[in-house]
Order: sequence, then structure tokens, then C-alpha cells
Amino acid sequence: MSSSRPSLAHHVSLVTGASSGIGEGVARALGAEGATVVVAARRRDRLAKLVDEITATGGTADAVELDVADAASIVKCMQTIAERYGRLDSVVNSAGVMLSARTAEAKLADWRQMFETNIIGLMSVTHAAFAVMVEQGSGHVVNISSVSARLANPGSPAYAATKAAVNTFSESLRKEGTGYNIRVTVVSPGIVETELFEHAADAATRARFQKMLDAVTPLTPADVGASVVFALSQPAHVSINEIVLRPTKEIE
Ligand SMILES: NC(=O)c1ccc[n+]([C@@H]2O[C@H](COP(=O)([O-])OP(=O)(O)OC[C@H]3O[C@@H](n4cnc5c(N)ncnc54)[C@H](OP(=O)(O)O)[C@@H]3O)[C@@H](O)[C@H]2O)c1
Repeated sequence: MSSSRPSLAHHVSLVTGASSGIGEGVARALGAEGATVVVAARRRDRLAKLVDEITATGGTADAVELDVADAASIVKCMQTIAERYGRLDSVVNSAGVMLSARTAEAKLADWRQMFETNIIGLMSVTHAAFAVMVEQGSGHVVNISSVSARLANPGSPAYAATKAAVNTFSESLRKEGTGYNIRVTVVSPGIVETELFEHAADAATRARFQKMLDAVTPLTPADVGASVVFALSQPAHVSINEIVLRPTKEIE
């Protein structure tokens, strides 16, 4: 059994939520490691720009429009990958929204959107990818969760609940995956500087987030990308189950 670090050349990875933030950082990191990166999200213009940038630096990337809350869109995305590459070595589920507000001010529609995207969407993409991986006898699912899953602070109860669900889903999936040579990794970042915080429903919440960002040197999407590369580059007998990374000064 070799324990040398496998190369990601010939590795085909689907990265959801790749049009900005963490997904974009993961896609760049995988591209730099020689993987073929299929970048997916709803904003095609952003994806096209990212593909150009990855290929300009010697990487291989391809864009597929994907709405994780739309079952037909997921089917189409997986068909495109099957036709173009005939395999799928990993999926990195980074698509997510954080429409934070305290319960007294929160809109139920926002709670629903978070569950539709962060958990049902993630599970639906995983369901489709898992079938391909079972068939090929190998694969790796990387789910971007959050330290919110274990903190459940006031101000984002529904968001925290979606991330706790991601963790529970992932652990069960990990156990199922052992029978098919499929590994599962949860990556749980603390504060990462991305557009995520701009979508908060009210000014008070946005101000609270800005205070949190100002109190630390936030992680970058590249920091999270390096974690994903680490998890995907392990020898076959090593399964990294969870990576928790926070800014050094982050308390909670
Ligand atoms: N930033 C943080 O501090 C932090 C910390 C821990 C965990 N996270 C998690 O990291 C993940 C990425 O967040 P981010 O910080 O990178 O935020 P971001 O910059 O806002 O990126 C979110 C991404 O999700 C995509 N997305 C949203 N809804 C989608 C849908 N229905 N279908 C397909 N794609 C969709 C967006 O693309 P389109 O709009 O183009 O579709 C975008 O690419 C999320 O799961 C988030 O919960 C973030």
C-alpha cells in the first residue's frame, strides 16, 4: 500500500457554488493541482470568467449552469458531466445561502430557501453524484458546512440548523460510502470573507457580521480551498472526516 500523496491530475471534480466565495476558491485550488474542475452555479457570466482564469494559468475547467434547488437542473448537470468526462471523482458542495435574521424578524420564505439550498440542494446533488460514484467504485463527497452547526448562536437559527443537518447527513453518508470506496469529508469553516454576509435580511444583522469580520483576520476562500485539496489528496486508505478551520482570533 502506497502512502504517497496522490496527484489530482485525471481527477474530475464538480464544485457547486463556484461563482463566488468558497466554491470559487476551491475551484481555483483544484485547478492549480491539475484536477479537471467543473464549476457550477446559476450565474453563468461569473463561471465563464472563472473558467478563463483557471485555464489561463494552465488548469482545466468547464462551466455548467446549476440551480441546486431545481431537480431538473441537477439531472442536466450530471448528464453533461457524464457526456463530457464519463466519470466524477469528487463533488464539492459549496452552494449555500445565509439569510440571517432573528426569529422575531425572520421571513419563513428565507428559512425555506436556506433549507432548499443548503440541505435539500446539497443532498440532491450528492444523491446524483453518489449514484455515479457507486457505479464507478470510487468517489469523494466534500460538504462545506460551518462552525455554526455546533455553535447555534442567536441571529441565525435556521442557517445553523441547515449546517447541523449537513453534518448529520454527511456522517451517515460516510458510513454508507465505506461499502463503495467513497469517502466523505465535512469542511467546517469559521469566518471567511465572501459575499455570504451581504445577503442578510436587515441592516442590524449586516452590522453584526461586519463587527465579526473586523474582529479577526478572516479566512480567505483560498484557505478553504487548501483544506479541500488536502482532503482529496490523501492516500486511498485515509479518509479525512472533518476539517474545522477558523481565523486565529475567532472565539466563537
Ligand atoms: N463565508 C463564511 O464565513 C462561511 C463560513 C462557513 C461556511 N460557509 C458556507 O460556505 C458555502 C459558500 O458560501 P460563501 O461564503 O462562499 O458565499 P457566497 O460567496 O455568497 O457563495 C455562495 C455560492 O452559492 C451559490 N448558490 C446559492 N444558491 C444556489 C442555488 N440555488 N443553486 C446553485 N448555486 C447556488 C452562489 O451562486 P449563484 O448565485 O451564482 O447560483 C454562490 O456561488 C455556503 O454553504 C456557506 O454556508 C461560509
